Amino acid sequence: MSDRHLEIDRAVYQQEVVALFDRRSATYDNDRDFHPPMARRLVEAAGLQLGWRVLDLATGTGQAAIVAAEQVGPMGLVVGIDCSAGMLDRARTKSVGLVQVSWLLGDAQDPPFPPISFDAVLCSAAFAYLRDPLAALQRWWQLLVPGGTVAFHGWSEQSFVLGVLVQQMAAEAGYPINFHPLTQDRAACADLLQRTGFEVQSIEAERQQRPLSISSIEQSAATVLDNPICLPLRLALGADRLATFRQQLHSKIAALLDENGNLLDEWETFYIVGRKPRWDRQL
Ligand SMILES: C[S@@+](CC[C@H](N)C(=O)[O-])C[C@H]1O[C@@H](n2cnc3c(N)ncnc32)[C@H](O)[C@@H]1O
Repeated sequence: MSDRHLEIDRAVYQQEVVALFDRRSATYDNDRDFHPPMARRLVEAAGLQLGWRVLDLATGTGQAAIVAAEQVGPMGLVVGIDCSAGMLDRARTKSVGLVQVSWLLGDAQDPPFPPISFDAVLCSAAFAYLRDPLAALQRWWQLLVPGGTVAFHGWSEQSFVLGVLVQQMAAEAGYPINFHPLTQDRAACADLLQRTGFEVQSIEAERQQRPLSISSIEQSAATVLDNPICLPLRLALGADRLATFRQQLHSKIAALLDENGNLLDEWETFYIVGRKPRWDRQL
């Protein structure tokens, strides 16, 4: 694939991310059981201190940024960046009166700050959406002070039943895709930190499950297949084979439902916390 194609694909990919989260912004905070506890636990794992300067990347509606703002206090600083204006509008509404927080429309891959600007960089429930996660981590490393903290979520290989199903079907169709290629297990998470220059501070794992109520099979299939992460699969299949793939996915979801129309969803979340070394021997 030429660079030019890669650039076009990346732009299309990013447009899909923005469109997806602009659409989801009005209802994103309704699911109180999923993102809020996960964001809070990530911030706690990061061990923020009073007065710290924190960058929350792909902040969305500010779930992690607002918890971080409470922890760094009014003498600290939290900047939340997201590419979706809709999500940021929600974050702004929720943070009135929190003087230490500001919001910025932008790209988490390349935040517009000089090196050594932050004590901590957070990225809650969004690492899987980044176009080039390794490059992003390297960029975040630069933004941190020596001894600074990076904290982000990863999901294991077998997380989320519908995603696993699509991955299996895509592999069978000859177009393998991977929703969580760099965080498939704890060792991969540690390797990811070390490859990008961080020391491993902690990697906590949390296994969870809950019944997914499937009110519409079409809707559930679309939620996973129309996810930006499936863009390469959709492009590779083309319109006709994509329609067939979609039908097959509907049948497979139908076959997994219990008598109440539920599907047991399961996932394993990693809370990945790294530290930029205080002294870089290469400097
Ligand atoms: C699942 S939400 C997570 C939001 C929030 N961090 C949380 O914990 O609830 C993913 C967010 O990542 C944002 N996002 C994905 N890729 C991005 C990028 N390259 N730059 C900025 N934001 C991005 C999306 O717009 C969306 O708001």
